[in-house]
Amino acid sequence: MPKLIDKFGREINYLRISITEHCNYRCFYCRDDEHTPNCKREDILSYEDIQRIVRLFAELGISKVRLTGGEPLLRRGIVKIARLISSIDGIKDVPLSTNAHLLEKFAPKLHENGINRVNISIDSLMPNRFKEITRGGDVNEVIKGIDAAIASGMHPIKINMVVMRGNNDNEIESMIDFAIEKGIDVRFIETMPIGSAGIDATSLHYSEKDILARVTQHLKNKITPLTSSKTDGPAKNFKINNTQSSVGVISAVSNHFCQTCNRIRLTAKGDLILCLGQEDAISLKDAVRSDLTDDEIKTMIVEAINKKPEKHEFNSSIDNISNRQMAEIGG
Ligand code: GTP
Ligand code: 5AD
Ligand code: SF4
Repeated sequence: MPKLIDKFGREINYLRISITEHCNYRCFYCRDDEHTPNCKREDILSYEDIQRIVRLFAELGISKVRLTGGEPLLRRGIVKIARLISSIDGIKDVPLSTNAHLLEKFAPKLHENGINRVNISIDSLMPNRFKEITRGGDVNEVIKGIDAAIASGMHPIKINMVVMRGNNDNEIESMIDFAIEKGIDVRFIETMPIGSAGIDATSLHYSEKDILARVTQHLKNKITPLTSSKTDGPAKNFKINNTQSSVGVISAVSNHFCQTCNRIRLTAKGDLILCLGQEDAISLKDAVRSDLTDDEIKTMIVEAINKKPEKHEFNSSIDNISNRQMAEIGG
């Protein structure tokens, strides 16, 4: 199997596909209140486009394809997309990142159709605060979604909490307890200066160091570092001793994890994005809708990967804040 290796020697094996820009929540750090995606049906990758693009990536060595959004469960045909992707030769891991508002209904079907695991955003367990952060969300629906995912047999199930100073940072401990009680994993994410979050990211920032201090104090040091596999995302994880759970931190700002970056992103409109923090993109939608052959498109992909930047620049200058909306790129 060939491998996609960029010019810094990083092996790219993880593709994140945003399958819709729409979301039923409007988390204040993610999107402007009035922002509504403006895209026509023909602008969005079709099932056939997605299937061909993923097949070509699989032929180049991609083995993990994560479905993101917006909110991926809003895309009509999500179950079919899951089935198409997971049946492609070489694709071994098809996880989903979701806000879980609709997961109760979808979990069993998704699992039957190839979604082996799920990561769920939940920034607060307090109904009123959750509603404020998501501008209208219902944490009880999310918890029902988590329970349905557990019952469906998906594994592992990870919850993601974006930690925001002065907002939800006093819930680090209760989120750990919640994860232990459910037997699932929890990761704390530093707020990144992307899209509308860019405005507040400096004041909201809660560093990996501070998060880890709280975690170790709460768990009385009963944690053991876990090693990551080569297709893993950027979290630094620890097993919580004598439980089914692990705890992790994703620190995009205070610590660069770019030197081990293994991933690229495809937007719902078919742009291949080489790095979350930079603006470079090539249109794979135009490529698959032209008369280019599979080999020609694969060559385009290899050339694009060669231009993958060494790192994002979030932490060096405020001018480097990406203007893309997070929901367009799928986190
Ligand atoms: P696993 O496959 O379970 O390891 O998941 P993951 O952490 O790759 O995926 P998830 O969708 O749960 O992402 C969690 C957080 O990590 C989100 O806030 C993402 O935006 C962030 N993240 C993922 N990849 C990158 C990256 O390459 N750069 C940066 N800066 N953040 C990333
Ligand atoms: N900083 C950090 N995480 C973010 N997410 C969305 N916007 C940001 C941001 N500015 C998270 C979501 C979800 C994941 C896919 O990305 O909360 O957990
Ligand atoms: Fe939707 Fe996720 Fe953005 Fe919240 S963070 S508005 S759930 S895409």
